[in-house]
Amino acid sequence: MHPTTTVTVLVGAPGSGKSMVSRALVADGITVLSLDEARAIRGEHEGDQKATPAAFTYVARQAHENLAAGRSVAIDGTGARRHDRIRWLQLAREHGAPATVLLVWAPLDVCLARNATRPEHRQAPEHVVARMWHTIDELTDADLVAEGFSRVDRVTTAPGSADDGE
Ligand SMILES: Nc1ncnc2c1ncn2[C@@H]1O[C@H](COP(=O)(O)OP(=O)(O)O)[C@@H](O)[C@H]1O
Ligand SMILES: [Mg+2]
Repeated sequence: MHPTTTVTVLVGAPGSGKSMVSRALVADGITVLSLDEARAIRGEHEGDQKATPAAFTYVARQAHENLAAGRSVAIDGTGARRHDRIRWLQLAREHGAPATVLLVWAPLDVCLARNATRPEHRQAPEHVVARMWHTIDELTDADLVAEGFSRVDRVTTAPGSADDGE
């Protein structure tokens, strides 16, 4: 028997620090599947929004393969849309794996500043960052548990906390 495999769904606005936080998950033996990387593979580059449907399909397939092999996965995407979270929940359910949310938060001005320092093709428009940030800000643990997640963990990535050893 495999030890319990889990599905961790990251939720956070662009620039909140999801991809940085997910590096710690890799160290725990979790396979991190990034929608940005999948956009680069299935589309033209990491910010290629036209490639989003193909990227979701690609990540879902990789998630299935990993879970079938007994490896826990984390989905590195904004997770702002309920529809997308439900997709990962269903995938987890198909494998009998509990799904948890890892909500990554930084102040909106920090998310915007980080977004603005990215290469242009990787930047999200400011209004998109702001809209997602507010959507995510309104999500309560109870909302996410009601969707079907078994646990919600929250992490803040404030400036200067990148190397505090946590
Ligand atoms: N805790 C932190 N402290 C300082 N800078 C951070 C921290 N977390 C992330 N960053 C920086 O912010 C930027 C965006 O982080 P990233 O993880 O790529 O965000 P996301 O994947 O949520 O869009 C990166 O340049 C990263 O180095
Ligand atoms: Mg990222």
